[in-house]
Amino acid sequence: MVDTVPPPPGAASGSTDTGPAIPAAPLPDRSVVPPVWGRITNLVVDRGEGSWLITTDGERYLDYSSGIGVTNTGHAHPRVVAAIQTQAAKLLHGQQNILYHEAGLRLYERLRHVLPGDGWGAFLSNSGAEAVEASVKLARIATGRPVILGFRYGYHGRTGQTMALTTAKDVYRGHFEPLPGSVYHTAYPYCYRAPGGSHAPDANCTCDWEAQLDLTFHQYVYPEHVAAIIVEPVLGEGGYLVPPPGFLPRLREITREHGILLIADEVQTGFGRTGELFAVNHWDVEPDILVMAKGIASGMPLSGIVTKRAILDTLPPGSHGGTYGGNVVACAAANATLDVIEDEGLVTNARERGAQFLAGLRALAPKYPSIGDVRGLGLMLALEFIKPGEGDGRVPNADVAKKVQAAALDRRLIVLTAGTYVNVVRIIPPLVTTAAEVDQALGILDESLVAAGA
Ligand SMILES: Cc1ncc(COP(=O)(O)O)c(C=O)c1O
Repeated sequence: MVDTVPPPPGAASGSTDTGPAIPAAPLPDRSVVPPVWGRITNLVVDRGEGSWLITTDGERYLDYSSGIGVTNTGHAHPRVVAAIQTQAAKLLHGQQNILYHEAGLRLYERLRHVLPGDGWGAFLSNSGAEAVEASVKLARIATGRPVILGFRYGYHGRTGQTMALTTAKDVYRGHFEPLPGSVYHTAYPYCYRAPGGSHAPDANCTCDWEAQLDLTFHQYVYPEHVAAIIVEPVLGEGGYLVPPPGFLPRLREITREHGILLIADEVQTGFGRTGELFAVNHWDVEPDILVMAKGIASGMPLSGIVTKRAILDTLPPGSHGGTYGGNVVACAAANATLDVIEDEGLVTNARERGAQFLAGLRALAPKYPSIGDVRGLGLMLALEFIKPGEGDGRVPNADVAKKVQAAALDRRLIVLTAGTYVNVVRIIPPLVTTAAEVDQALGILDESLVAAGA
């Protein structure tokens, strides 16, 4: 979530679409939506097409939020829409305990092959948080150990268990103590904010995350009591942090040494977002459990985990599940999404457009003293803002981040913020975006940085 935009008073707007002969009732006031949904824009959207959202007033916005990293195939991809329509006309709900359906069987089979190697199986649920919950329950039952370790700045959702794992921002957990126990957090390599000084996330990284993990093992919990370490391979809500190349491989070694399962939370990084189908592939790391959601079904609610069947089958029948998990229409959307990602080369496009975007952002940065860091992997990109000349030169500047976001919105580009201090602007284009759209967005961001006094 990001900063709050107050809804304009009494601002109900009716659709201008080809409506029924009898005029539709006017839209209710926007205040019917509770404020817990902190607002990013006040747009009332009629439809989406590829990288674009079109409001009920007919205005077009370049959507580089992708609904928080969901619409990887773009809005309303015709093949995904057709798959949904065909399936919806046949069966809307086929509960997984009661029956099998074709879309689900096909998806379960495909998900067995999204990671290299054999022996994988999948479990399907609805939201990212729900899949993280599944991964935690599974890790505990499979290892017989109680403790889960997460990382500072991490985000895993807002259910009870996932709040306990999340430290990205106070608002995600601060109001809700007591939270589930036997959860501890250790240091993620935040190279820009490293205590010893900013550095590139490269092979010479000096972040002390390994020493901090060792301290955690000596101060908080015996490693042999740890069921799993959960990690975002590229950290999302907490600030879009790309780790140094040695981080995940070394974490994998450490977890193996101690018989700890490695859970890769790829809810945001998955399905091509970073320029690999899953971000762990950048470092050839095999997790024990991969958590997926968001991009899996182009916007239909679906999530899941992929893990070795030997691990998955330790969950006895009935020990986990849910009414809607693996919904048949969502599964049909996911199968079509996987087809589109493959057939349209979206992983390659993410890599190429990501490189174009990152180079463009890096070229802009020297003009703006408030830009402290530019980073990204594939189409997961960020600008971190600081207050120039203050403190150690890295004092977070949420004000400028918010102004850049607002100025971009004025120019019809939707971007989000991120980071513990909300001083990061993050850019999450759909993977179908074109080189021309990236150039357009870079031009808008350049203007927005000027307008924000960055
Ligand atoms: C890495 C990560 N894990 C889990 C979640 C939670 O997913 P959901 O919002 O679908 O519950 C998110 C959502 O942003 C996420 O980015």
